[in-house]
Amino acid sequence: MPSATPDPSPPRIVLGVSGGIAAYKSVELLRRLRDAGFHVAPVLTPDATRFVGAVTFSALASEPARTSLFGDTVTPIPHTHLGQGADLVVVAPATAHLIARYATGLADDLLTATLLATRAPVLLCPAMHTEMWEQPSVQENLATLRRRGVMVLGPESGPLAGGDVGAGRMAEPEAIFELVERIVRGYRGPLTGQRILVSAGGTREPIDPVRVISNRSSGRQGHAIAEVACRLGAAVTLVTTVDLELALDVVRSVDVVRVATAAQMHDAMLERTGESDCVIMAAAVADFTVTSATEKLKKGAGTPQLSFEPTADILHDLVAKRHAGQVIVGFAAETTDVAANALAKLRSKGVDLLVVNDVASPGVGFEHATNEVILLDRDELAETVTLRSKSAVALVILTRVASLLAQGAP
Ligand code: CTP
Repeated sequence: MPSATPDPSPPRIVLGVSGGIAAYKSVELLRRLRDAGFHVAPVLTPDATRFVGAVTFSALASEPARTSLFGDTVTPIPHTHLGQGADLVVVAPATAHLIARYATGLADDLLTATLLATRAPVLLCPAMHTEMWEQPSVQENLATLRRRGVMVLGPESGPLAGGDVGAGRMAEPEAIFELVERIVRGYRGPLTGQRILVSAGGTREPIDPVRVISNRSSGRQGHAIAEVACRLGAAVTLVTTVDLELALDVVRSVDVVRVATAAQMHDAMLERTGESDCVIMAAAVADFTVTSATEKLKKGAGTPQLSFEPTADILHDLVAKRHAGQVIVGFAAETTDVAANALAKLRSKGVDLLVVNDVASPGVGFEHATNEVILLDRDELAETVTLRSKSAVALVILTRVASLLAQGAP
């Protein structure tokens, strides 16, 4: 059912359909998008119309389905009209051929011309046989597009046309619909209106042009905090040392700042703390940096003498610069005397919340998908968050942050 009170300016979706059997599922996606109040303009490649007729799409869409690069008197240049007006272009199914044409910048039909003419986010939902999906050429084309900021959902594994089973099934219309909704409408939640600055990953201190001293932090807990904060409605900046891909529903919303060394992370965090309502220092920052050699240290020159010097404590400087109402969360990685060390760290760091990791425990902290932490608050009260995914741990931390922000932290 179309929504009872139509949005006066509903988000505009261009629904691209290329020539694969999964085109029949796009009709369901179109219907779902229309029911949710989106303005949907279908664009079919000539091959798509061999699977499902344009009339079917036209009957359900907000405007007639288009198949030709050449317009009419009302819309003489349809690709620029569609591309410039779109809030999102979703291509479902995206065939190997469509992906290749898009990756190389070909514009030989209305859909590829629209893809080149838009600055809106683009979501591709590939569908093809497993052998095609696994071709290095297809994977390289997708990697190129991903690098350019194109989002790719699926494919899934399951029964394929022709009776065989494998990777290549288009994502289900409901999953595509949910992602489209999240991308276009964003999230609202307990952190709506809050600006959260998160650090993640281990810093890398160069010894010479080829070697670094680092630590085993994967960055996954910090990235999970950034993703979950975004889903709770926050505007998130992530200062990170690692290149982990963020989830598709938030990838365009999180502002990512890449750094490597403790000094770079220090500058990036201190520059942005003034405009943040909450800062979460999940990064594993080197306590010492090395005076880096300008040329590669040669083996034959004997055992190198490294000269260390302490780095600035970023958390300390953030706390010193804290503005009224700002919430600051620190992390503690401990291997021995966890409770005593954590308490001492809480007192010395002056944070509102300390997330304590016993990194010597199985399944905890560095390099794991799971984590178990103790949350220590200003009143020195401890809450154990038992072993769970890093996203689930992030949710507990951010629920505490939301409540601290609501109380108006000191
Ligand atoms: N931290 C920081 N700047 C540093 C070192 C640490 O901001 N130069 C932050 C971490 O991001 C973390 C908290 O301080 O939020 C505690 O880090 P941790 O490594 O557990 O403790 P340290 O302060 O380094 O103390 P120690 O190594 O003695 O345990």
